[in-house]
Amino acid sequence: MGTKGRILVTGATGYIGSHTTVELVNAGYEVIGIDNFSNSSPSMLEGMEKITGRKIPFIRTDCCDKAGMEEVFRKYPDIRASIHFAACKAVGESVREPVKYFRNNIVSLLNLLDLSMKGEGKGIVFSSSCTVYGEPDPENLPIKETAPVKPAVSPYGRTKQMNEEILMDCVRACPSLKVISLRYFNPIGAHPSALIGEMPNGEPQNLVPYITQTAAGLRKELRIWGNDYDTPDGTCIRDYIYVCDLAKAHVAAVGRLLDGRQENRFDIFNLGTGKGLSVLELVQNFIRATGADVPYRFAGRREGDIVKVWADPGKANSILGWKADTPIDEVLLSAWNWEKKVRGI
Ligand code: WQD
Repeated sequence: MGTKGRILVTGATGYIGSHTTVELVNAGYEVIGIDNFSNSSPSMLEGMEKITGRKIPFIRTDCCDKAGMEEVFRKYPDIRASIHFAACKAVGESVREPVKYFRNNIVSLLNLLDLSMKGEGKGIVFSSSCTVYGEPDPENLPIKETAPVKPAVSPYGRTKQMNEEILMDCVRACPSLKVISLRYFNPIGAHPSALIGEMPNGEPQNLVPYITQTAAGLRKELRIWGNDYDTPDGTCIRDYIYVCDLAKAHVAAVGRLLDGRQENRFDIFNLGTGKGLSVLELVQNFIRATGADVPYRFAGRREGDIVKVWADPGKANSILGWKADTPIDEVLLSAWNWEKKVRGI
């Protein structure tokens, strides 16, 4: 079958990488996936192949290994663009191990850039995060891409900011390089097939996997970190976006890179629903949508938490022709179905 060309996906067996690879294949692209399995499992590949009905070329390598990356580009000289997911992403861990975060998240990008700036140049879609905005001022909510980038509140967030600055400098230096940076809000849920989903190592830091593990009886109760914030119900507000909707935004971004429509060679898009939900609202939505029991209690605030953050996705809606519109109950059900599948419930 004719394809739209080959896309390199780094971090291809990770949570967002795996869902994006599925959507790329469904959209008619050839993918070469790479991952070092530091925070994912080879079993995701089986799930991706079952969903797409296609074998997905994959190489186990580390983006920080320059020779390994050169081998990928030598083996696949037809790579037209890359989507760079491979990075460490746990905010708390980054505070405890900053050197690991700076080395991994910066060196991996530098290796990819070296190889993408050669010859006619290859596009890069970069996996960024709303964390670069820090705690938005009230007048900047919902957040547009033009909102000020504030000093990061964690080494993880700082690596995302530094990566975007490195990409901007490289675009200036290399006329054939084009970059789209996608700033995610809070990705949640799992593929409707329940064949791929989020696989946090150890105790989940993120809210939804902790909820589903509590509902599955793996955790005694959910602690809601703080209910004394300046919000309607006292708990923090976030923009929770379905991972499959997020994956489709990457397909749209790759299309925009390859079809030459992009005016400025470094562009940024906020990827969210445009709606804010509090922690308590999300928990109550989950209980109502699934009928599952989630014991919870209010605990102290978590250091580094942003109080309120949600996107203005208008630029992505109009320029990428993309919208995150899966109803939240369907998203939460997908997370629960995945948890039940993984636990054999
Ligand atoms: C959401 C809300 C918690 C767990 C982080 C990164 C971001 C991205 C997504 C990588 C907060 C509350 C959580 C729990 C709770 N990561 N919570 N009890 O912190 O918004 O974003 O993950 O790309 O860059 O910053 O997500 O899911 O950890 O927290 O009350 O057991 O849920 O306090 O208010 P966060 P989260």
